[in-house]
Amino acid sequence: MAQTQPQEQPQKQPQEQPQERCVMVCQHTSCQRNGSAEVLKQFQNQNIPGVTITASGCMGQCSTGPTVRVTPDEIWYYRVLPPDIPQIVQQHLIEGEPVQNKLHPRIHQRISY
Ligand code: FES
Repeated sequence: MAQTQPQEQPQKQPQEQPQERCVMVCQHTSCQRNGSAEVLKQFQNQNIPGVTITASGCMGQCSTGPTVRVTPDEIWYYRVLPPDIPQIVQQHLIEGEPVQNKLHPRIHQRISY
């Protein structure tokens, strides 16, 4: 009786899922003192398709809060106030272009000559 060779099965590749954007708004002490609860509330009041808004713990940028971090972009904003939110939502979260003047200077260092 002839033995059959096991057929090689093509390996299944994990399907790449587009990672959903997440806006993390720090709700720890220093950021809260500077109004991060209102910042979180205003982000949550926006209905942005494909974007999750969440509260976070301290992100280590306490002196320049309220701190907002957008993943998977890894864009960090500093001193975010409610008037900044419409521009961040429209320009970054909808059109994909981060708001330069709110980029955290320690994380997004710029070199000027
Ligand atoms: S308290 Fe918000 S970054 Fe530390």
